[in-house]
Amino acid sequence: MKTVTSVHEMTNLAYAFRSVGKRIVLIPTMGALHRGHLSLLKIAKELADVTVMSVFVNPTQFGPHEDYSRYPRPFDEDCRKAEAAGCDVVFAPAAGDMYPPLHSTSVQVDGITTRLCGKSRPTHFQGVTTVVLKLFNCIKPHFAVFGQKDAQQLIIIRRMVEDLYCPVDIVAAPIVRENDGLALSSRNAYLTQEERSAAVLISEGLQAVEKLFSDGERHTAPLIETIEERFAQSSLIAPEYVEIVDLCLLEPVDRIADSALVAVACRMGQSNTRLIDNIILGGRL
Ligand code: PAF
Repeated sequence: MKTVTSVHEMTNLAYAFRSVGKRIVLIPTMGALHRGHLSLLKIAKELADVTVMSVFVNPTQFGPHEDYSRYPRPFDEDCRKAEAAGCDVVFAPAAGDMYPPLHSTSVQVDGITTRLCGKSRPTHFQGVTTVVLKLFNCIKPHFAVFGQKDAQQLIIIRRMVEDLYCPVDIVAAPIVRENDGLALSSRNAYLTQEERSAAVLISEGLQAVEKLFSDGERHTAPLIETIEERFAQSSLIAPEYVEIVDLCLLEPVDRIADSALVAVACRMGQSNTRLIDNIILGGRL
C-alpha cells in the first residue's frame, strides 16, 4: 500500500492511473477506522481497479466548540487496518496542504444543508462539500463510496455532484452496527459505559419504527412518538431531533407515500457525545 501525503503527488498519481486506463474509487474518511469504514473499502474494491482511502480530519466541518482537536487520529493503526483490508493508496494530506493560507473558496449547497443536522451545525456541511470536492479534484475518482450512516451528507453530496456535473458516481453503503444494534461511529469511543448501554435505545427505536411501517403504519406522528418514547427511557439521552423527511428535499412529511428517511440525533448526557442514526423506509439511498 502506498501512503501519499501531498496534494501534488496525489494528483500526479491519479493522472498516472487514469493514463493506463485504471478506474479509481475513493473512500473518504477522517480516520479512526472501524469496521464501518472497512466495509466501505470492501464495496469499493468491487467497483474499480485502484482504491484510494483519504484519511483527513477536515477542520472546516467542525464548529468552533466541536471536537476537532480531540478527534481521534490513530494514523499508524489506520494504515495497518487499511493495508490489511487491501487498500491500494492512503491519501493523508496535511491541513495546510488542503487549506493553504490564501484558500478562500468553499462549496455551499443550499436548502437541504439547513435541515436535520444543519440546524445545530450550521457550517458543517459547507466544510464537508468543500473538502469532498477538493478530494474529487485531486484523486479524480470514477466512484466514491459514502456510508448511509451519514444519510444527510450522502444526499447533499449527490446534490453537489449533480449540480456541479462532477464526473463521479456516488455509491451508498449500508450502516454497519454492533451486535446490539448501535451504529458504528468513531465517536462511540467517547461514550462512558453507562452511555454505551443506553445508546442501544437509539437503534431499538428505529427498529420499532421499521416494524410499524412494515405492519402498514404510514402516519409519521406515531412513528416519531415511538422513537421519542425509547429516548425517554434513559435520562442519559438528550434528543436533538427525531424527524421523518422525504429523500430529496429532506422536508418533514406527515404521511409516507412511498419512501422516507427516519433520522435521529441526540447528545449523551455524561460525555456530551453527539450520536446520529437513521433508517430508510420503503426505499434506498
Ligand atoms: O463522513 C466523513 O467521515 C467526513 O464527513 C468526510 C466525508 C470524510 C469529509 O471529511
